[in-house]
Amino acid sequence: MATSRILGIETSCDETSAAVLRTEDGRPVLDSLVILSQDIHRVFGGVVPELASREHLRTIGPVVDRALDEAGIGPGELSGIAVTAGPGLIGALLVGLMYAKGLALGLGKPLIGVHHLEGHLFAPTLEHPDLDPPFIALLVSGGHTMLLDVAAWGDYRLLGQTLDDAAGEAFDKVGTLLGLGYPAGAELERLARRGRAGRFDFPRPMLRQGLDFSFSGLKTAVLRAVRESRDLDTDRADLARDFQDAAVDVLVTKTVRALDETGRDAAVIVGGVACNQALRIALTERVGARRRVVVASPRLNTDNAAMIAAAGAWRLARGEAAGLDLEPFDRGPIPGTQSVILPV
Ligand code: KG4
Ligand code: ZN
Repeated sequence: MATSRILGIETSCDETSAAVLRTEDGRPVLDSLVILSQDIHRVFGGVVPELASREHLRTIGPVVDRALDEAGIGPGELSGIAVTAGPGLIGALLVGLMYAKGLALGLGKPLIGVHHLEGHLFAPTLEHPDLDPPFIALLVSGGHTMLLDVAAWGDYRLLGQTLDDAAGEAFDKVGTLLGLGYPAGAELERLARRGRAGRFDFPRPMLRQGLDFSFSGLKTAVLRAVRESRDLDTDRADLARDFQDAAVDVLVTKTVRALDETGRDAAVIVGGVACNQALRIALTERVGARRRVVVASPRLNTDNAAMIAAAGAWRLARGEAAGLDLEPFDRGPIPGTQSVILPV
């Protein structure tokens, strides 16, 4: 039986994470996953890059050791080390990258640089090993919002993306307007559950055209409603509900349009906003019985090293490895992506 074990390392933003992913005859088994979320940024209402780097530096060693311990293996039993090379905060990425390079060099094992967003795409495969392209991916995180046609692993067509704020960023900014902590997504969803729908007539930006997104107008509309509110304590849940309904409506409408235009029969939601149950339920309803929706558990949707190990394992299996000159990057498309404009 062919067994490989990949150590994944993720430090692109404010989670320090390590995981050991075992592959048995092509089947992924997650042996361990450690995620340390940096609470320090809550005080500042957003991620402070310098503090993120320092926290990663303080915790990366223990987090990797813990992941190896929980997997019950020593570093010598690894087949390779996969690390997020970007996009992300350069100082934060450097910590994981340097640690991974040191391990790879010391152990004489291959190093694999992983694009963070390709990691998100692979996350659902850890729980749905039968998930194979082609499918449409709605990638919604704190930093990105895009629709991708995943024709095959490593062969992506960018169908649409946000022209301003990312979906998660919109949840976080509206959360701040409503007095919630950072990041606000999960708390806003809980608040919305108590709200009544239809009190506020929020816009659904670019709903009718194409596959691109825009969220800044929606955010401004919520800001105006908050300013006009006579009693924010009473209105808060209703504001959260109508904002979420508008954001979900736009995300779902565009994803269904991408399915219709490409003829794909599966949609996969990935990234932190994929934790949103209202989004998952609405998309499942709207795709109809002939098409399926796949979403991973919350722990695998928000930033984690298991998804990095999964994408790294696939790249290593096709013979890719990085040199010790691998550098961090703060932006750029997933390798193998072409931009297309569908006539919608
Ligand atoms: O993928 P992720 O962990 O980090 C990035 O790569 O950006 O995504 C974090 C984002 C945050 O904006 C957070 O507010 C959002 O995901 N999020 C949610 C929910 N849970 C997390 N947004 C809406 N509803 C949720 N339940
Ligand atoms: Zn992410």
